[in-house]
Amino acid sequence: MIKVITYGTFDLFHEGHYRLLERAKALGDYLIVGVTTEHFDQMRGKINVMDPIVDRIENVKKTGFADQIIVEDHAGQKVEDIQKYDIDIMTVGSDWEGHFDYLRDYCKVVYLERTPNISSTMLRRQKVSIVRMGIVGTGRIAPRFVAEANYVSGIFISCAYNPVKESARAFAERMKLACYTEEYDEFLQNIDAVYIASPHETHSEYAKRAIEKGKHVLCEKPMTFTRWEAEELYRLAQDKGVVLMEAIKVAYCPGFQQLLAVARSGKIGEIRDVEACFSRIADENSRERTDKVYGGGFLEYGSYPLVPIIKLLGLEYEDLRIDSILDAYGMDLYTKIQFRYPEGLATAKMGVGVKSEGQLVIAGTKGYILAPSPWWLTKGFEVRYEDPNKIDRYEPAFMGDGLRYEIAEFVAEINGTSEKKSKLSPEESIAMAEIVERFMEQRRERGIRV
Ligand code: CTP
Repeated sequence: MIKVITYGTFDLFHEGHYRLLERAKALGDYLIVGVTTEHFDQMRGKINVMDPIVDRIENVKKTGFADQIIVEDHAGQKVEDIQKYDIDIMTVGSDWEGHFDYLRDYCKVVYLERTPNISSTMLRRQKVSIVRMGIVGTGRIAPRFVAEANYVSGIFISCAYNPVKESARAFAERMKLACYTEEYDEFLQNIDAVYIASPHETHSEYAKRAIEKGKHVLCEKPMTFTRWEAEELYRLAQDKGVVLMEAIKVAYCPGFQQLLAVARSGKIGEIRDVEACFSRIADENSRERTDKVYGGGFLEYGSYPLVPIIKLLGLEYEDLRIDSILDAYGMDLYTKIQFRYPEGLATAKMGVGVKSEGQLVIAGTKGYILAPSPWWLTKGFEVRYEDPNKIDRYEPAFMGDGLRYEIAEFVAEINGTSEKKSKLSPEESIAMAEIVERFMEQRRERGIRV
């Protein structure tokens, strides 16, 4: 009996897939089809697959060509499968020509002519309209955002806004954007969504005006300085039927999602303590150090360490204490926030002028998770136990500088194709706004003009 194996995502099942499977089956007597998991596709850089794996498997099954369906979830699995299932022929479409020649040590490799003029990518483009996104603010993060957006299908950056026309023009020219303007209302007219990356204190107003005009909003952190404003924005977004997302990129990073899943799985028992730190000795002339009202460790970096705490211990803390080390003008060089929950504790540390170890430690009743710096880009973490010889290591994939995951989630939310559970819910974002409000109140009490 000749055993054949083939692999694919089979997203939005199409004629190309059908014809490939038909010919793969005809190569032998028994056909095994490997369907990729979402996790594996994300690791390979396919971040906009639309059909869930159950549907993709079902569609392969319906063709009647597959004698067996398996899932492909990691690199290197093909060699394992070929040996495990005693495969004679591995086949894929000709778009992979040469790519799998290394498997010839194990079995015959056949590249079948790809069906012309059809692909999942093409169908995805037809199915969802492309989101035209405008950028508000053209500072340091904006060029990185444009570069990362190129990796996400279904979106393109069409326009830049800056109240200083010359800055908008220079940025548009450098990033090869077709349009730029210093008029916000005019800017909103020709786009579907905005990314707000302007100075902190302007976020909320730009977001509000965009939502009122029916635009989706991805807003840099901190989105607002009060709980009330955050609630208002989410309420308004709901009324207008648009997506509002706070751009705290760690929340959307697949490795961080995996870390949360492991933490919640019971592997470390009950979670009792979360300690998270993000610090950077910022240049003394940088905005982080010179903006005495809106700079400083907490407002610049506070959102990152707050995310694992809020996600794992929840919104209902009993007590919260904020302490800062200040510079001569009262701006925080270093801030420590301590939370007390009914059954747990947490600490968030952030700094612009004091450096500490940027790690995340989640302590439980059976063990703990240690994610070393840069845990906010989650490239690896360990689960450790009482027995120091026992360590479970995780090495999730991470591409680019992480912004692409946030952008992909934003597009998925707009298209209604994201997972049901929000990666950062409005309630969680509002809870963070409340902590920002507490921080600003303390600043005010110290006599700083806010
Ligand atoms: N395939 C084919 N002809 C097409 C499209 C795909 O023969 N027009 C083959 C691929 O070569 C692969 C299998 O079908 O062997 C599964 O491909 P998959 O990557 O799932 O489909 P694509 O349409 O290529 O997906 P995408 O556009 O996301 O890359």
